[in-house]
Amino acid sequence: MVPKNGSTAEIADHIATVLRGSGLDADVRPAAEVSDVRPHGLVRLGVALYVGGWHRDARRFARRAEQRLNAEGHIASGGRLKARARGRVARAILEEGRGGDLRDFDCIAAWATGIAAGLAAEAERR
Ligand SMILES: Cc1cc2nc3c(=O)[nH]c(=O)nc-3n(C[C@H](O)[C@H](O)[C@H](O)COP(=O)(O)O)c2cc1C
Repeated sequence: MVPKNGSTAEIADHIATVLRGSGLDADVRPAAEVSDVRPHGLVRLGVALYVGGWHRDARRFARRAEQRLNAEGHIASGGRLKARARGRVARAILEEGRGGDLRDFDCIAAWATGIAAGLAAEAERR
């Protein structure tokens, strides 16, 4: 995950809580600090959009890890933009009335539960 204003980190923590509740080990790390994904069976990259694109740390992580990642899908889970956020783009989004907390934690939890079930089924097949 890519921390800047904290809302992506909260999503990552929510996913980790669901996975741990299903008996899995889950490690939440800032993307900029992850140099090797090999110790992990599954990687979930949480990315915030900044000025029309992925946050720089996420782009760099994806480039570093692309040989080892086998992307399987994605979800868009909404973000959070607080009323006093600074920066021209943030202000423009707020002025358009598109600020607020749009994160759907139920949707995120359902997605994480599906991942846990998939991993459990895979482990059983082995
Ligand atoms: C400077 C700035 C630029 C942003 N640009 C976009 C954008 O282009 N598109 C978008 O959907 N959201 C944009 N957002 C909203 C962020 O994606 C959203 O606030 C996200 O949840 C921030 O994640 P974070 O709290 O982990 O930093 C922007 C927010 C900021 C502060």
